[in-house]
Parts: sequence; C-alpha cells; structure tokens
Amino acid sequence: MVLDTTGERLARVVHWGADLGADIDLDALVSATDPPLARATLDVRVPVSLVPERAAGYRGRPGLSGSREGLAWSPSLRVASQEWAEPEGGVVMAEDPDAGLVLRSELRLAPSGLLRVRHALRNTGSDTYQLDELACLLPLPAVAGELLDLTGRWCRERSPQRRPLGQGVWRREGRHGRTGHDAPLMLVAGTPGFGFRAGEVWGVHTGWSGNAATWAERLGDGTAVLGASELLEPGEVRLEPGQEYETPWLYATWSDRGMDGLSAAVHRWLRARPGHPRRPRPVVLNSWEAVYFDHRLERLIELADAAALLGVERFVLDDGWFGSRRDDTSGLGDWHVAEQVWPQGLEPLIDHVRGLGMEFGLWVEPEMCNPDSDLYRAHPDWVLGVPGRLPPPWRHQQVLDLANPDTFAHVRDRLAALLDEYDIAFLKWDHNRGLVEAARAGRPAVHAQTLAAYGLLDELRSRYPDLEIESCSSGGARVDLGILARTDRVWASDTNDALERQAIQRWTALLLPPELIGAHVGPSRARTTGRTHDLSFRVATALFGHFGIEWDVMEGTAEERAALADAIAFYKRVRGLLHSGEVVRGDHHDPAAFLHGVVAPERDAALFAYVQLATSVAETPGPARLPGLDPERRYRVEPVPLAGGPVPAQAEPPAWLAEGGVTLPGRALATTGLQMPVLQPEQALILHLNG
Ligand code: DGJ
Repeated sequence: MVLDTTGERLARVVHWGADLGADIDLDALVSATDPPLARATLDVRVPVSLVPERAAGYRGRPGLSGSREGLAWSPSLRVASQEWAEPEGGVVMAEDPDAGLVLRSELRLAPSGLLRVRHALRNTGSDTYQLDELACLLPLPAVAGELLDLTGRWCRERSPQRRPLGQGVWRREGRHGRTGHDAPLMLVAGTPGFGFRAGEVWGVHTGWSGNAATWAERLGDGTAVLGASELLEPGEVRLEPGQEYETPWLYATWSDRGMDGLSAAVHRWLRARPGHPRRPRPVVLNSWEAVYFDHRLERLIELADAAALLGVERFVLDDGWFGSRRDDTSGLGDWHVAEQVWPQGLEPLIDHVRGLGMEFGLWVEPEMCNPDSDLYRAHPDWVLGVPGRLPPPWRHQQVLDLANPDTFAHVRDRLAALLDEYDIAFLKWDHNRGLVEAARAGRPAVHAQTLAAYGLLDELRSRYPDLEIESCSSGGARVDLGILARTDRVWASDTNDALERQAIQRWTALLLPPELIGAHVGPSRARTTGRTHDLSFRVATALFGHFGIEWDVMEGTAEERAALADAIAFYKRVRGLLHSGEVVRGDHHDPAAFLHGVVAPERDAALFAYVQLATSVAETPGPARLPGLDPERRYRVEPVPLAGGPVPAQAEPPAWLAEGGVTLPGRALATTGLQMPVLQPEQALILHLNG
C-alpha cells in the first residue's frame, strides 16, 4: 500500500496491491497516478482519501455522515499529527475544530499481507453529534470489473453470487443484530473471470457481529471503492461532548493469484495471533442430532462410551439440560441444571465423560430468554424492545438487554457458577434469533448489545483462560472476525448434509482456516434435507474442518463404527497438516465436481479431495489439476480408502489408481493433472501426497 501523506488533508491511497519494491520513486508514482481534470466538472482533483469528504469534492458515499441537528454535516478534516512505521502502518489524527470533530485513523499491515483499517471519531464540540455512518473505504483500480460476495439462509450459508461492477453502488446490508446467514463474509472485486487460482483480486471483510453494510461503488469520475461500516439505525450513536465512537476493523487483502491468495493472507494472519488455538483440534461428539431434547443419563452415558471407543476426545451436551427446557418453547435464560431430568446434576455425566478421557463441553445461549422462563417472569424489563411491545417472537424467544448492567451481571454470574461448579472445557455459545426492533429505553440498541456480548465473552475468557468457545447462531449466522477475536471456532451450519456442507465449508474457508470451522459427520439420512449419504462421503467432507460427529453412532452398524474409528485415527494423523497448511481450491473444469485440498507449509505433503457433486456430462471426468504444490518436488500420490472409499461407476479405474498410486513432480500434477475415476454422485476420493 502506498499512501500520499503530504498536504493538510487525510492521506490519499495511491496504491493498494502488488508490492512495488522499496526503491520505488514515490514522487514519480504520485505523478503517474494523478488523474487529468475533465471538462464540465470540479476544477480540482478529488482524491479517494482514507475518509473521503464532500468538503474535498468527493461525490460518492462519503466516509463520514452525521450532524448536529443539521449542522456540522460536512466536516473538512485537517491532519493534526501522523505517525507511520514502515511497513507496519500508522495512526493519523485529523480534526475539524469548527465541526467539533477529531478523527483517529489506524492502519495495520501484517506480514501476511492482511491490511486492517479502523477509525475513531470524538466529539470535541459542546453539543450532541449524531453519527450516522463512519466507513472504512479503500480504492479499487479500474481493472477490478467484477464482484463476488456471499449470501444464504439457514442451512444454506455462504452461497456465492457474482456480477459486473458497473457505475453505481452494490451494497449488502445486514440488519439482523447478528452477522447473519446471508452475510457477504468477504466482498471481492477483481479482474473479470477471476477464480480461486487466477486473477487479480481485492477483498474486504468487516469484523463485526451486529448490523453492517459492505459495498462497492464506481463513480462517474471513474474511481471505484470497496467500503464497509457498522450500519447504524436513526439516532443509535449520539456522541455527547467528549464521547468517542470506534468502527469495527475492516480486513482487506489483495492477491494476484485469485481468491486462494486472499484466503491465505487471512489464514496466515489468524494463525499468527497469540490466541489462535494451538492444541490439536480434538475430535468432538455433539449430542444434538443424537438425542435433541431427550436428555436421559443412561442414554448419554451409552453415547459417551460409544464415542470414547471411536476415539472421540470432546463430548458436548447440547440444548435441553437446564430449567424447564424440554423443548424450545420454555426455560431459556434459566441457567440452572434441570432437576427433573438431572436429579444428581451434571456431575454423573461429566465424571463419566472425564473418566473415559474425554473433555466435556456444554451448550449455552446466554443472550436470550423464552418469555416462558423464570428469568423473564422475574425481569420482564430485561429484554430488548420498544416500550409497550415485544419484538415479534422467533423460536419462541426474546433477546436479553446485555447493556443493562444488572442483566449482564446476572448472566455472567450464572455462567461463572456453572464453570466453577463443573469441569467444563468448552462452551457451544448459541444465538438463535435475528434482532428485530431491538431497543433499550426506546432507542436502537444493536450497537450497545453487540459490544455488551463481546464484553461478556471477554470477561469469561479472562476469568477462564483455558475455556474454548464455539460461535454458533442458528448454525452459521455469526461467522466474522469480531466474534472470532473471542471464540475458537464457528459452527458453520446446522446442515450436516455432506453435499450441502461441501459448498458451505468451501466458501467459509474464503475467510477461515479449517481448524476454525466445525464440521461433523451426521446420520446417514441428513435431518435437514432427507438426503442419504455413505459414511465415506460424510467422513471425507468433515475431514477438512474441525472434525466431529453429530449422530447417534449406536444407530450405525458395527462395521460402520469400525470404519468411523479408522477415519478418526486418520484425522488425528493428518490434522497437523490440515490445520497448518494452505487451503487450495482448484478452478476445476467440470461444474459437477470440486477439487480442493490443503498443502503443508513446507509443501512436502498435501491432502486433496476430488468431490463428485452431481453426474458429469462427459463419459470420463478428465484430469484434475492439483494446484499449490512445489513444482520441482516429486510427490507420491495415493488414494485414502476412508470408510470403504468412494463407489466407482466405471468399467476400469484410471491406470494410476489401479496401480495404487503414482509418483510425479508437482509441476506435472498442476498442469497435466491426474485422470479422475468415474464416481457416482455424492462420493469423494481422498488423495494423500507425500514428497
Ligand atoms: C441451533 C444450533 O445451530 C444447533 O446446533 C443446536 O445447538 C440448536 N440450536 C439447539 O437449540
């Protein structure tokens, strides 16, 4: 990134993209990037500064919007001080004394190439300043002519959508009070036709779990930007004299090798964080799809015994263990173990699980309550809503007002009491509704609620530093780097249908490395879609995340359980590679198949999956190119017959497969590729490479 920090105004972004080298003549670069003045327009050049201003002539969506009852609506910020350290970034202070505003802008560039930007605005005036929007914007070059972002719904999170970037605004808004099933995850702009492995691309992500907007805008003057901000409701942020508002971090990446390069920069940055999970990701068994609300000690003990025999390392008790929570209509908010179903408390189960050598995990949904709960009956004023009416119900529940210190303290203390009483290594932290008309004292409340939820997580984490937390929200509706600054993995989706999961995990990995993506083997007939899948396909799908099981394994045959145990043993052998290597996704020629994998940091090993999603049009699917390998290194490629391996649909397999493998240099594997077998749909071939 090159910034022009000369002059009084906020820095202009001269270049965001390829490393231009340390010896670049910056004056020459500034001169080379200075646009001409067109006719019949402003007589001055209008830069895309860090916070583009109307006062400078900017005619797109401005960086800062707000006013003092209609005044001070168009600030003209002048730089007061700036500190830069190359290449890490810096801080700029700018002010407009007439408008009574001071802006602090911070840019951080990580060695992985990930850029983080945020701003903070302080009201130095003598009356209230209503902030409507403070955005982080970065300019795009003219070659970025196509956009990709993600959208979706419950059980179909993170579906890609593409469009050309013409003049105008493509803006994605999330007003769910949580990140949302339909969140863009990353807005990518690139050279038309960009893919996972090709094209020059620029991507942004907002690290925020409340309301947010992300957009791309191309102006009539030819400039284009990517932008993002917290989405504020009318009057939501009113800065009294001396008060400050800070934006979420904008995470921005660039790559000249397609979207895999964007992912690699984010993954490397995440993995370098001091708080990134370091222990091998334990194999999980979650009780939800095995027993739902039917909690019976004997049954759960049997499940735990079966899990331990398979090699499971963490047993998680899901929803239904507390208060009157026998279904989803009541009890939420009453964080006391249900005496009716657990007369001796959770101890007998936890002791048993611990005795089997597994960790114990527990489901909670701390931000919510059912109106049919002791909590709500005692404190009806603790929920968010406009006075006199409750927001429309969603899964029979309402949202607790965590910005109320009494509510916050109550929830924190109940969770702490559980964590003190029981040997709990892991919380599955759920959040099962969108926030609609969320208000406290009549005012919009999502901003304060999001910060309060972060505060609750932060307090618990500092008190219980070894506790791991999963971010779940009706499946994958809270997947963002704001929540991941205080949690250890996400539940990517409530669908355990392996076919759906192939796409969901592929696109979730645009932002997150596999070790942060919970991926479980579900029952053979998927509960959410009714599709039936072989164990081999379910295992091959869950393998590329943080592996677990969400199935009453006693339903499986003895043969299936033995195969699952073998698959778990294999996961344990390869999780070091899977959770440290680079994620690669081929731009495979056949739309009926996916090719993806993980290549070890030293590029001496890799694991790939060739996934037959549907039937291919061609008789034989053709060769798959295995990208991301060391071109000079020779690799031994061998199929891994997980749980019986994929069912073939061919007279004879390709020669190399019939011979049990092949040894070729990375260059050949990436260019000529390997002929793939003809597979039945919804089957996957796993390949292990060693070089
Ligand atoms: C929604 C989650 O996504 C599920 O995995 C499960 O925990 C249920 N909530 C429990 O109510």
